[in-house]
Amino acid sequence: DWTPAHFVEETVEELREKIASEKVVLGLSGGVDSTVAAVLLNKAIGNQLHCIFVNNGLLRKNEFQNVLKQYEGMGLNVKGVDASARFLEALKGIEDPEKKRKAIGNAFIEVFDDEAHKIEDAKWLAQGTIYPDVIESVSATGGPSATIKSHHNVGGLPDFMKLKVVEPLRSLFKDEVRRVGASMGLHPELLGRHPFPGPGLGIRILGDITAEKVRMLQEVDHIFVQGLKDWGLYDKVWQAGAMLLPVQSVGVMGDERTYEKCVALRAVESTDGMTADWVNLPYEFLQKVSNEIINKVKGVNRVVYDISSKPPATIEWE
Ligand code: XMP
Repeated sequence: DWTPAHFVEETVEELREKIASEKVVLGLSGGVDSTVAAVLLNKAIGNQLHCIFVNNGLLRKNEFQNVLKQYEGMGLNVKGVDASARFLEALKGIEDPEKKRKAIGNAFIEVFDDEAHKIEDAKWLAQGTIYPDVIESVSATGGPSATIKSHHNVGGLPDFMKLKVVEPLRSLFKDEVRRVGASMGLHPELLGRHPFPGPGLGIRILGDITAEKVRMLQEVDHIFVQGLKDWGLYDKVWQAGAMLLPVQSVGVMGDERTYEKCVALRAVESTDGMTADWVNLPYEFLQKVSNEIINKVKGVNRVVYDISSKPPATIEWE
């Protein structure tokens, strides 16, 4: 019978045998999969595992610092790399969603490759790939990592992609990954985190991205997500976030007329992200969050709630 404890025991043994005394590089994203993969590898090979956590400047408010601290608290051998400025520069003036994704993906590959080079004599690249990723990438692109490769068809593969690949969670579904994480003592709060897209807030700022827009959206998102937690709603929602719209509308503030930005809040129920329903959040909650956003976040004077399901609407707006 499959149990998380058995899985951990067996996988640790396999990893030790496979990797022996070689060095492994792993990119942490802050998400459940890469974290569980890292903790598993850490259990097997300790400091032979070198984790890299990149701040692309598009994470949630305080996320980079908080998560980095958590990683260190778990005893992971992790290096935090703040590359926010580099990503912003790469995104300058780009409005098209797919071009943004490409720019973010390419910047990540460059930063990660630079960092991986600093780990002398690394032989392995570990990834938090889980079973649904395996199926999806094979059917959609003709093979795992095909999407990454397409970014680099000019100068050849970045060096870290020539490493041997180890994917200890490859056979697991998401709920199994959570159970494995729990059996190794990972905090329930970490294991219950909502999914968050790799390009982060970059695809939730419609139109071009600036530091000021990122700051604004981080504040909005923080009020919304913290509100969900305070009201006991966070765990009832599969994913939640805010979109900064390229729309200004008229408002009043005291005696003044304002002409400021509009944000859309989105919360969905789903099991796998393939289909999703908007969540019927309590009106009192929406009222409170909306007031707080408009009162506290400078530059925002209107909040709307997205009541579209997937399909036909996607979860993200870009
Ligand atoms: P959509 O918007 O397609 O999103 O309904 C489904 C799920 O995928 C996430 N998503 C992404 N994740 N890179 C990612 O790592 C991306 O470019 C990306 N686009 C969407 C989205 O947050 C949702 O969980």
